[in-house]
Amino acid sequence: MDALPRFPAGFRWGTATASYQIEGAVRADGRGASVWDSFCAEPGRVKNGDTGETACDHYHRWPEDVALMAGLGADAYRFSVAWPRVQPDGRGPANAQGLDFYDRLVDALLDRGIAPYLTLYHWDLPQALEDDGGWTARDTAHRFADYTALVADRLGDRVAAWITLNEPFVHMSEGYSLGTHAPGRMLLLDALPAAHHLLLGHGLAVPVLRERVSGQVMLTNNYSPVWPAADTPADRAAADAFDALQNRLFTDPVLLGRYPDLSAYGVMELPFVQDGDLALISAPLDGLGVNYYSPTRIASPAGAAQHEGPTVLGEVGERIQEAGLPFQDTPIEGYPVTAFGWPVVPDALHELLTGLRAAYGTALPPITITENGCSSHDEPGSPDDDRVTYLDGHLRALHRAITDGVDVRGYFVWSLLDNFEWAEGYSQRFGLVHVDFETQKRTPKASYHWLRAQLEAQHRPD
Ligand code: NOJ
Repeated sequence: MDALPRFPAGFRWGTATASYQIEGAVRADGRGASVWDSFCAEPGRVKNGDTGETACDHYHRWPEDVALMAGLGADAYRFSVAWPRVQPDGRGPANAQGLDFYDRLVDALLDRGIAPYLTLYHWDLPQALEDDGGWTARDTAHRFADYTALVADRLGDRVAAWITLNEPFVHMSEGYSLGTHAPGRMLLLDALPAAHHLLLGHGLAVPVLRERVSGQVMLTNNYSPVWPAADTPADRAAADAFDALQNRLFTDPVLLGRYPDLSAYGVMELPFVQDGDLALISAPLDGLGVNYYSPTRIASPAGAAQHEGPTVLGEVGERIQEAGLPFQDTPIEGYPVTAFGWPVVPDALHELLTGLRAAYGTALPPITITENGCSSHDEPGSPDDDRVTYLDGHLRALHRAITDGVDVRGYFVWSLLDNFEWAEGYSQRFGLVHVDFETQKRTPKASYHWLRAQLEAQHRPD
């Protein structure tokens, strides 16, 4: 495969992970229980009964994992801090041993010339806070700000970028609205307070970070270009309704200081929004984290029966249909699919980035691609050529977006390691490095070697 075009000087290259998906060691050093520990313990919630109890045992094997990043030639790494390691019950003083772990990790990264990008919240809420209502309770936003202060006090001098929340839309919709993720609640539209409280948590955390850290402050959302299944008024309206939730619910308040129109859902007012909340939520950011995997094709529910076949949203889509929401996802045909069944559409990354710039204009801060990647059916010894094709295509589309004027500062592959893929357990492998979950042996895949060669070429003098 040809070398990639040259990215701008100073462009960051890295891989991304999340605490519950890789760390294991769920009872080590005073860690409290998280909603994911509880969810995994409930029969039928996670495929094959898998849990994050051991995961990649990164909590003990992190030196080897940092060496893998260095061997790749990456100059950045995005990881998340597990809130229940820092505050086992989600409130009160810091558990020093929990913070010690991240302190050692950050220092090891810096020793290798790898810039730490730290996500404060990647879905592992302390169970004690969920017992008090979780994100449906306004108090959780204040607890998040307190937790942020504890992490920032310890690591604020050494972290390059602080990402408050990861994909709050997925956390709210799957965790609180549809119940396919922890904490497994099925509140449908009554989950909207959880959306607001996540945003408020972000808004309260920003000034806490500004007072304490030298690095950039960001938020990471997932985005999916929404295609109407047919060019009809009904499908266009359904696509707009879905877009308002999927792409705008957590972006308009942050960048524009207002909620998108939710009247398609019969939602005319948001009584849980208090005076001053949106001003906090829309405080200026240094960057927007963008996670991108695939586009979505949306029909009106009335037309959905004509579109049989596997869809991007899968089981989530079925629950949406049962709930009677005003849209339905439909299969995307004519593209290769990943092991997960997600269509591979690199051009949609270009569409997404130029679309964000068109929609938000000067309100859009510089973008970092904080996740992009694919799951594949790979084993050591059989090259993951599909992942190489996926990454190559998406990096070329990204480069085109940069050439077209979108300010993108970095790119993180999801993921460094095969890991615990939430409700799919260990059945979906996203890593550049294969993990044998019996022995914990790490084996770099063909995609790892491909990316290393690409990064070498990027850094070669002209
Ligand atoms: C986005 C999430 O942030 C991450 O946790 C997940 O593993 C990937 N998508 C792949 O589904």
